[in-house]
Amino acid sequence: MNRSMIAILDLGSTENAAVAREIRALGMYSEIFAHDIEPETLKNLPGVVGVVVNGGVNNVVDGEKIDVNPGIYDLGLPVLTACHEGKHPADVNEWPEDRTEILNAFIEKTGAPRDWNIENFIEGEIELLRKQIGSRKVLLALSGGVDSSVVAAMLIKAIGKQLTCVHVNHGLLRKGEPEEVVRVFGQELGANLVYVDAVDRFLDKLAGVADPEKKRRIIGGEFIRVFEEEARKLSGIELLGQGTIYPDIIESGTKTAKMVKSHHNVGGLPEDLKFELVEPLKMLFKDEVRACGKALGLPDSMVYRQPFPGPGLGVRCLGAITRDRLEIVRESDAILREEFKNFGLEGKVWQYFTAVPDFKSVGVKNHARAFEYPVIIRAVNTIDAMTASIEELEWPVLQKITKRILNEVPGCCRVLYDLSPKPVATIEWE
Ligand code: XMP
Repeated sequence: MNRSMIAILDLGSTENAAVAREIRALGMYSEIFAHDIEPETLKNLPGVVGVVVNGGVNNVVDGEKIDVNPGIYDLGLPVLTACHEGKHPADVNEWPEDRTEILNAFIEKTGAPRDWNIENFIEGEIELLRKQIGSRKVLLALSGGVDSSVVAAMLIKAIGKQLTCVHVNHGLLRKGEPEEVVRVFGQELGANLVYVDAVDRFLDKLAGVADPEKKRRIIGGEFIRVFEEEARKLSGIELLGQGTIYPDIIESGTKTAKMVKSHHNVGGLPEDLKFELVEPLKMLFKDEVRACGKALGLPDSMVYRQPFPGPGLGVRCLGAITRDRLEIVRESDAILREEFKNFGLEGKVWQYFTAVPDFKSVGVKNHARAFEYPVIIRAVNTIDAMTASIEELEWPVLQKITKRILNEVPGCCRVLYDLSPKPVATIEWE
């Protein structure tokens, strides 16, 4: 792949990812490397035209202050040092709130072309994928989420029918989602798609289980079993597609940053199902993944979806899941999403959904006493899901949604709006 790159050396800054994203947004590719990279290795990185030494608060490891190998200053590459007091001439002592001007000037200083954009990325990545895969076959668990959908679209473009997608409908997806996966991938993009209707299997396993973590374990474990069964039916597949993205890799921990979470892979598949991984999005940030999906022709409804938990509606049908309450969650969620779209809130509010508790309340329907479920609306904004604030929905929006849920969804007689920020509450109810 012929493109220029600015290497960021990680001296424990919490802003490595932000700096990399900002450099990319200015049209230059950027990646993060460990602070103690050897000068020789750094020089030989493909396309490297400049280095940012990004200092930070965590630059003490085991009581020792860490630093870059001084040899990197003698490579003849332009170096920008940031927030790094000490022996080297610091170009910036502290990043200003808006770094654009500094980064722009540094990119100019490298004299290299700004040749990073999503179209070039797709072109280069497809070439790499064809090289890695050759004539072999790839299997992909296609949930319909942004990452797996974009991986599927990339692989379909790169290797067509050598890819087999498996879509497991576990009964906990939102209204219309399995149908959309079948329409977009099976029909429009002509993928090899195996659709597995596992609704009864999941709901039977979950019957009577009220503990949220136990529900999560059952859903995750059962998913692996269904996927494994499908994988065994298809012979001769050596590779497995994965929707790993750059933040997963960054969060897996560097030498200076503590591990936030382990890199999600298919831990759980049995030993004799060994696959080589294909991870075409592993150098992309989430917004770049979306841009990639859009450029590959995926519909906006897939590319700009709000985050959706792996256990799906299972953690929003509170307590032990029952089919009647699951339908109330699914139908009320569909109305909520439709009305957010109508009121121009789609894409503006980070995450919004409904949850249904496992108790009933008294109401009056058709002049008679009703004893039915409440529906809880939640709408939050956040940057990183660690903390979240409540979307201050306008009264007419809440009124319209409430009216529609009460009129159109059988089995509920009350609508509530959850006002609790995170912390103290979490975003999901379970
Ligand atoms: P909480 O509820 O912890 O949620 O504030 C933070 C974000 O994570 C999502 N979430 C999950 N995602 N598996 C997932 O893939 C899960 O088990 C899970 N639980 C919560 C949640 O939707 C929110 O965006």
